[in-house]
Amino acid sequence: MPKKNVGLMGCGTIGTHMALAIESGSIVNASLAGLYDIVDANANSLKSKLKSSPQVYPDFDGFINSPADIVIEAASQQAVRKFGKPIIEANKDLMIMSVGALADRTFLAELLELAAVRKGRSRIYVPTGAIAGIDAIRSVRHLLDSITLTTTKSPKALAGAPFLETTSVKLDTITKITELYEGSAAEAVKLFPANVNVAAVLSLAGIGVDKTKVRVLVDPQATTNQHEIVASGNFGDIKITVNNVTAPGNPKTSFLAVLSAIECLRSICDDAIRIGT
Ligand SMILES: NC(=O)c1ccc[n+]([C@@H]2O[C@H](COP(=O)([O-])OP(=O)(O)OC[C@H]3O[C@@H](n4cnc5c(N)ncnc54)[C@H](O)[C@@H]3O)[C@@H](O)[C@H]2O)c1
Repeated sequence: MPKKNVGLMGCGTIGTHMALAIESGSIVNASLAGLYDIVDANANSLKSKLKSSPQVYPDFDGFINSPADIVIEAASQQAVRKFGKPIIEANKDLMIMSVGALADRTFLAELLELAAVRKGRSRIYVPTGAIAGIDAIRSVRHLLDSITLTTTKSPKALAGAPFLETTSVKLDTITKITELYEGSAAEAVKLFPANVNVAAVLSLAGIGVDKTKVRVLVDPQATTNQHEIVASGNFGDIKITVNNVTAPGNPKTSFLAVLSAIECLRSICDDAIRIGT
């Protein structure tokens, strides 16, 4: 299999771990083709940690013309909305971490339509992220009656969420586990864009963003990011709980999300065997 050239969009927590994994050789058949970050200093800082010294592109126009076969987006929902289509139009594959952007049905349909028109020249990959059991949810999606994601995080992990501008609740005054929010995945990914990307992954695998329910709890004592999925239907029921340690440097991001992105790239680059997909 020819080597895949990887372009990294977003050189923060996930981007840095991906770059180090590629450079360590733990992902066979992958090499770094270029780095892009809206904050130049973040891309240059990542470059300084890498022996391979990949090219830093100061703007998207340069980055899109890099020799990347696949772009890994580890930036923001806004980056997916702005750059998703041009990446597909440039016949590059796209791995999306800011999956909340795909909760917009019109945008998702347009992106898929573009990829379909390109007849396999561009593929879109969505890693399972910070949750487990996506394989099972996909398998039973036609039989699902209900599915609820309950996410419990520390005040530090939830800080800065747009939801907090819509409420009088102050995170630093909460002393016990408290439910902050209950609603649809469609709404949750807008109110907690850096916290419940997993709700969008679950919706894509299951019954969509309107029928997938999300609860967000804050726990002042939490030392992990917890996601609990409860699903039921004519197949029986599924209950999955993951307690994720946070990624070094970013309390909002679970380390499992980093590992799932690395594993997704590994399976793309080495297709001798596919497990669980
Ligand atoms: N799918 C999942 O399960 C999952 C889990 C954790 C995080 N995420 C998402 O993945 C993304 C990256 O997470 P992270 O922990 O690495 O975040 P981070 O904040 O550590 O790094 C993000 C980097 O992207 C850059 N960036 C932001 N907007 C950009 C844009 N428009 N164009 C180019 N660069 C841009 C930032 O400057 C920063 O360097 C976030 O959107 C996060 O919400 C998804």
